[in-house]
Parts: sequence; structure tokens; C-alpha cells
Amino acid sequence: MSTTAANPLRVALLGCGVVGSSVARLLTERADDLAARVGAPLELVGIAVRRAGRDRSDLPVDPGLFTTDAAELVTRADIVVEVIGGIEPARTLLLSAMEHGASVVTANKALLAEDGPSLYAAADEHGVDIYFEAAVAGAIPILRPIRESLAGDEVTKVLGIVNGTTNYVLDKMDSTGMGFHEAVEQAQALGYAEADPTADVEGFDAAAKAAILASLAFHSRVGSASVYREGITDVTAADIAAAAAMDHVVKLLAICERTRDENGDEGLSVRVHPAMIPRSHPLGSVRDAYNAVFVEADAAGELMFYGKGAGGDPTASAVLGDVVAVARHRVGGGRGPGESSYAERPTLPMGAARTRYHIALDVADRPGVLAQVATAFAEHGVSIEAVRQQMFPDDSDSGATRASLIVVTHTATKAALRATVEELAGLDTVNEVMSVMRVEGS
Ligand code: HSE
Repeated sequence: MSTTAANPLRVALLGCGVVGSSVARLLTERADDLAARVGAPLELVGIAVRRAGRDRSDLPVDPGLFTTDAAELVTRADIVVEVIGGIEPARTLLLSAMEHGASVVTANKALLAEDGPSLYAAADEHGVDIYFEAAVAGAIPILRPIRESLAGDEVTKVLGIVNGTTNYVLDKMDSTGMGFHEAVEQAQALGYAEADPTADVEGFDAAAKAAILASLAFHSRVGSASVYREGITDVTAADIAAAAAMDHVVKLLAICERTRDENGDEGLSVRVHPAMIPRSHPLGSVRDAYNAVFVEADAAGELMFYGKGAGGDPTASAVLGDVVAVARHRVGGGRGPGESSYAERPTLPMGAARTRYHIALDVADRPGVLAQVATAFAEHGVSIEAVRQQMFPDDSDSGATRASLIVVTHTATKAALRATVEELAGLDTVNEVMSVMRVEGS
């Protein structure tokens, strides 16, 4: 193995939770290989923790490295790694680190989605790098491929399963028939879901990741506030069964695409919501808590990135890849690519997004019902792509027969679909609107 006489690069680690511990351990255990890859040793100069005195003897690091003074630590490092999460104090610490000349590596999706431009501006001002591969989809290399490998192409759409907790919950509902709450409890028992699962199940975590993906893919500024968000709390066993009957699965998707509004002006649709996708789609086979991002680009065609989206070592893999990248820049001179927002594409409101819908109805089976249902769709300008009818067993004393009517639409706006469903629900021939779900990926 080649060694190097270059001066060590000082690495400060902010946070020593699940990811921080893995980063500290791997930095120490792989020190020789990392030095050879960088061209200079990486010297861990401090680990900022919230509480001193906790037993961390399982970590192969000098106990003298732990400090509760993160503000001081960032002033004496060449590379600052932030795995604390949350907006503050992370933002202040990263801005201070860059002001003191350090390059930064962060896994902080919430901060990047809320205030990325301030951080990118600080990196430019101080001539340092800001890398954040671990902020989206954990171990999966997706941001650098979008930012660098696809820099010569035109990305047209990104479809991602970027939240492992919700994928686990939906997958369990699909494979066992269990309901949402039971599946969440199982995810909590296995450590996939937090005690308070709101950030995951309500789609906040995925929305932050969607904002970051859209910004990079479309060279524009997209903040989490402009991402349309629906979580999975309203997904029922009936929705999952309706999808299964069409050989589809329900996934929580982060969707970023170029589109046009009703005036024909171009913009972006960035949204997170549950949707049915065909089981045969590459995203349809993403099981358990795995993540995957499906990218469509003009020249490259379809690309799929798959792997573990969370966990200590998988996320540390992405963090360390960034540490090596920014360290190489410091050894060789120069910086990596900065923010690219030249295209300035606006994010369009959800009303501009057109998606296909799957609607399952419980209807009376008698002459004219299909015509009545079709009229409701036509009156709101929603075009029907396919209809399937199936008889329910006759379980009523009156002898009236019922049928399930499945309607799949061509693309429609949310407003048109909602008005259609309201009208359907009011028809005396419709016993129940059993399921309404968007359809993607086909
Ligand atoms: N809570 C996230 C998930 C992992 O369930 O995928 C961290 O982003």
C-alpha cells in the first residue's frame, strides 16, 4: 500500500448517534486505506456530542476526542462532518465551519431542503465544498450520479422510494393483508419506525428528499415548502387489495418531473404521495425497508439505483465517500461542482399535475349504472382508460345484486378527480367509493 507524506487533513465529526458512531469507527478502522485513496491521512480531531460522560468505550477512538463544544470544534478542522440532523444548531455550525475554511459533508436533508441556498452560497463565498450524498437514500449513490454523471443529459423524471419505514409498512400490508396501524406497530418493534413515526408516515422525510432530488435533477431551486405531500396514513387494506387485483403495488413515491401548467408554461411538479405502480415496474419489486430511485433521462433512458436507505454503516458509506471526495479536492486543489440552479424552473402547484387514477366503486348491478358512472367522469372532463366489473356475491336479503366497478382514468388533475368522486359518492346507485389512488409507472 502506498503511503503519503502529505500533512494530515483534520476531520471533525458533529454527532455520534447511529450514523456518527459508524463514521467514527470506519474512519479509524480504515485509516490506512483512506489515506492511500486521498493522498493524505485523515485525522479525527474531535467528536461533538450533546452529553458528555456517556459510555462510548465500544468505539475504537480516543475518549479525549469527545467534546460538547461543537462551536469550537468546527474552527479547527479541514473537513466537518455533520450528522446531528435538524435545522439548528446544525445550520449555524456548518456556516461557521465554512467561514473558518472547512469543507463540509452533511446528511441533513431537512436543512438542505429548507435552506440549502444559504449553505451553497457560503461554500462559494469561502471556496469550500459542501457534499451531501447521505441526505437522500442512505447508502445509494444517487446525488453524485445526478449531479455529475448525468450532467450532460436532460433528466425528465425522477421516481423514488426514498423512505424505508413507509416502504416496509406498505410492503407488509401487501404481503400479509394487515392494516396500516398493525404494520406500523410491527415496523416499530423491528426498529424501522420511530416511536413517533409522523415524519416518515406523513411524508415529511420523503418530501425533503424530493426537494433535494428535484433541485439537482432540474438545475433549479426547490425547497421542501413547495413539495406537495400526502402521507400513507389513509392507505387502507382495501386500497392495497384493489392494487393487487390489478397486479399493482402501493408505494409512497417521491416524484419530480418536468411538466407544463394549463397555460403551457414549463415548470416542475415535485410531489410525494402514495400511488399504485405495476408489480412489473422496477420499483414494484422494492421490498422491506429498501430504497430505490428510478431516473428517466433523454439520452440515457431509464436508470435504477437500489439499496439501503438508512442505518449506521450504509449511511456512513455515503458520508465517507463524500469525505474522500472533498479531501481529494483539498489535496489536489480545486473544488467539486457547486450548486447548479441556472435553469430556474419554477415549481408548479399540485393543481397543475396530471396523474392517472384508479377508482374502485361498490355499485348496484342494474341497467344504466355504468352509463351513470361514465357520465360523472365525462362531466368533469376526466377521460376513462379502462373499466372492469366484477360481481359481488349476493349477500342482501332484498335480492339486489352488487358489483365492484374498477375505473382507471387517463391523466387528470386532482381538482377534476375530486369533483368526479364527490359526484360518484352522491349517486344512489353507488353504494361506496371503496378506493381512490393515483397510478404511476405505466
Ligand atoms: N427515516 C428514514 C427512512 C431514514 O425510514 O427511510 C432516514 O432518512
